[in-house]
Amino acid sequence: MDKQVVLKSSDDLQLMRESGRLLASVFDYLDPLITAGISTMEINDLADSFIIHTLNARPASKGQYDFPYSLNTSVNEVVCHGMPSATHFLKSGDIINVDITLEKNGFIADSSKMYMIGEVTPLAQRLVEKTYAAMWQGIRAVKPGATLGDIGFAIQQYARANGYSVVREYCGHGIGREMHEAPQILHHGQPNSGMVLREGMTFTIEPMINQGEAKVKLKRDGWTVVTRDKKLSAQWEHTIAVTADGFEVLTLRDGEIVQ
Ligand code: CO
Ligand code: CO
Repeated sequence: MDKQVVLKSSDDLQLMRESGRLLASVFDYLDPLITAGISTMEINDLADSFIIHTLNARPASKGQYDFPYSLNTSVNEVVCHGMPSATHFLKSGDIINVDITLEKNGFIADSSKMYMIGEVTPLAQRLVEKTYAAMWQGIRAVKPGATLGDIGFAIQQYARANGYSVVREYCGHGIGREMHEAPQILHHGQPNSGMVLREGMTFTIEPMINQGEAKVKLKRDGWTVVTRDKKLSAQWEHTIAVTADGFEVLTLRDGEIVQ
């Protein structure tokens, strides 16, 4: 591994907690606005403005790797990294992941959630709900002495038991002053394998779970990742800190309950 894990001090964690709290508030702001008829670019512009002008923070995705927007919008068969578009309007039945990063006082938080637009099919709703639960299976495995493999194993087991597959090409990541720090957090794996978790580590858990096969492909825009079989994909993401006796979810939203 070329990058070293950066352990966070309690002062660092206090700042990351603040970034996480602000990011959670972006979703609270967006929640009532993400409905049928809105374009994915309007979602981007609303979030961009809220982060900059209301929160006095920085949309950390904008400009990172030359990505031009402040968030990703991944609709239906889009697995991740969907690009906002002024001509893509959400319609009833869509499921969409909105993935946002925010930097405040030098520290970055990263979180995403699914929105179900209007009336979605029971199968789409099940995928969204089980993917959320799969993320929590991973989070619950986090404590000092556990391994990265324990996290991936917990997610993979749960997804498989529910008839779904786990995307392997994209993963969670350490986070802090940089959006992408070591280590990589795979959403599959074997128990008791890989790096041992230590207090002060901060990273994301962000499983992408597919209705059909795990295989994905990159579209010609160089960003948008879709399922090969065009079936639905869902994703949820939180930024997590390893604490002395377990975990803390730094991007927990108001009313969201630790599972
Ligand atoms: Co993200
Ligand atoms: Co992330």
